[in-house]
Amino acid sequence: MIERILPPAVRWSHSFDDRDDPLFPEELALLERAVEKRRAEFTTVRACARDALAALGHPPAPLLPGQRGAPVWPRGVVGSMTHCAGYRAAVVARGDEIALLGIDAEPHAALPEGVLDTIARPEERTSLDALPTTGGIAWDRLLFSAKESVYKAWFPVTRSWLDFDEASIVIAPDGTFTARILVPGFAPSGERLSGFHGRWLVDRGLVVTCIAMADIP
Ligand SMILES: CC(C)(COP(=O)(O)OP(=O)(O)OC[C@H]1O[C@@H](n2cnc3c(N)ncnc32)[C@H](O)[C@@H]1OP(=O)(O)O)[C@@H](O)C(=O)NCCC(=O)NCCS
Repeated sequence: MIERILPPAVRWSHSFDDRDDPLFPEELALLERAVEKRRAEFTTVRACARDALAALGHPPAPLLPGQRGAPVWPRGVVGSMTHCAGYRAAVVARGDEIALLGIDAEPHAALPEGVLDTIARPEERTSLDALPTTGGIAWDRLLFSAKESVYKAWFPVTRSWLDFDEASIVIAPDGTFTARILVPGFAPSGERLSGFHGRWLVDRGLVVTCIAMADIP
């Protein structure tokens, strides 16, 4: 499913059911006080990530949260993980092939009352209203997911926070979206990140968005 929105340089793995693959002791230590839901998503998405890393030729290694929860990947690798009810997915790539990588999955249902008001800019609401209603796509949920993908691609590069109103997203019905970044944010090389291109799909009751870009825009 997600391969439809990923370039060939990105390796991926996903699961619709939970897995009980073994964790590394450092990972288990993080789950000492975790509830069952967190244990399940953490364990399954890491099993997915290790499968995806194996496809890149990397042996199994602990995948621990680093600064602000961003996962720490093996040297030379970029990656992203997501989990929601009934779905977990991980994507990875060589850092010399993909510069920006972020993935997000959400249940395909309208956002709860009031959430759109807190995450959408006025022009985003206007552009959502112009999207076709035929096809039954929950465009508000898709916007939310696209914003989460933007943040997951943005943070590992800039190491800075990005608020919901600091990116302006336009969703196209053809399965793509663009994000214009409205605040300064820089890669370690000094390049400014000005905008992202992403892709989306709706399938099996899920909205999935992904940003996978070879170069810093
Ligand atoms: C971090 C965040 C994006 C996670 O998204 P989510 O829909 O809640 O949860 P998901 O299951 O899809 O993703 C969780 C995974 O994201 C990854 N993640 C967490 N923090 C991250 C960060 N700072 N950078 C990159 N990835 C991060 C982790 O792998 C995490 O899984 P793990 O804890 O098992 O390792 C979200 O909680 C958040 O803080 N959002 C606010 C910032 C934002 O979205 N701004 C919008 C800018 S337009």
